[in-house]
Amino acid sequence: MSEGLVVAVTGAGQGIGLAVARRFAERGARVVVSDIDADRCRHAAQQIGALAVPGDVTRAEDCAALVQQAVAAGGRLDVMVCNAGIMQLKPLLELDGADWDRMLGVNVKGCFLTLQAAARQMLQQAPLAAGRPAGKIVTMASIAGRSGAGPIAAVIPHYRASKAAVLSLTQSAAIAFAPRLTVNAICPGLVESEMWRGMDRAWGALQGLQEGQVWQQRIAGIPLGRPQRPEDVADVATFLAAPESDYMTGQALNVDGGLMMN
Ligand SMILES: NC(=O)c1ccc[n+]([C@@H]2O[C@H](COP(=O)([O-])OP(=O)(O)OC[C@H]3O[C@@H](n4cnc5c(N)ncnc54)[C@H](O)[C@@H]3O)[C@@H](O)[C@H]2O)c1
Repeated sequence: MSEGLVVAVTGAGQGIGLAVARRFAERGARVVVSDIDADRCRHAAQQIGALAVPGDVTRAEDCAALVQQAVAAGGRLDVMVCNAGIMQLKPLLELDGADWDRMLGVNVKGCFLTLQAAARQMLQQAPLAAGRPAGKIVTMASIAGRSGAGPIAAVIPHYRASKAAVLSLTQSAAIAFAPRLTVNAICPGLVESEMWRGMDRAWGALQGLQEGQVWQQRIAGIPLGRPQRPEDVADVATFLAAPESDYMTGQALNVDGGLMMN
């Protein structure tokens, strides 16, 4: 269902971004993979037959270059997945201004610069087909941006704030670009990725737990009975790029095995 689409994915060197990029490629899209880690970016692109455009989402010129190279390769940009993000676990009282700036710089400013660069291109191009949007933007928020419940809220306050801001930005962009573009967010839950492996180690160290124990405690409460795979997110990203979701904009979809029901 993604046949012929030109799709760019940020933070696609590993984890969720790579799974999203791979799923689009498997379904016939022309995919451009971007990541701040240039080696990881090239390796990922090679694995899935995509174009590699390394870049840092906090730099407007890198976001513009990503869009420009996608257009040079595919003639237009149909889908942008603003996925790049970082995590840090630190108790609220120990956080400093630099921690705060770095987190919001990547997760919020990076998302803003990426979607702005994508929209500048998409708003100039013809619709995907008669009666369809000219482009579709997907942001990567988190269930952490929707609720303060749970003990982890105390050790990731800046991450939670950043993802709440991504949800707000998604809604603003949806209004700003309607009816030409759709902009929707995905809120993943507990995804098996390097990001969660790092959280498990950091949170375990704070609580005096062995590696893997925090993860096991957290996944025990997932109603659908298994941890989330990056591919679970990828399937919803392709849906948000497909005609079946054309009447949705400004929405946030929880993809979390039923952890959060709102
Ligand atoms: N893993 C989870 O449980 C989970 C849950 C909810 C939301 N998310 C969100 O999903 C997205 C992907 O998460 P993941 O688990 O795959 O993380 P990950 O750490 O495995 O991968 C993130 C990728 O983003 C890249 N990146 C970091 N800073 C960048 C920058 N400034 N510019 C470009 N690329 C940059 C990294 O190099 C890395 O390859 C993030 O936005 C994250 O907040 C993850």
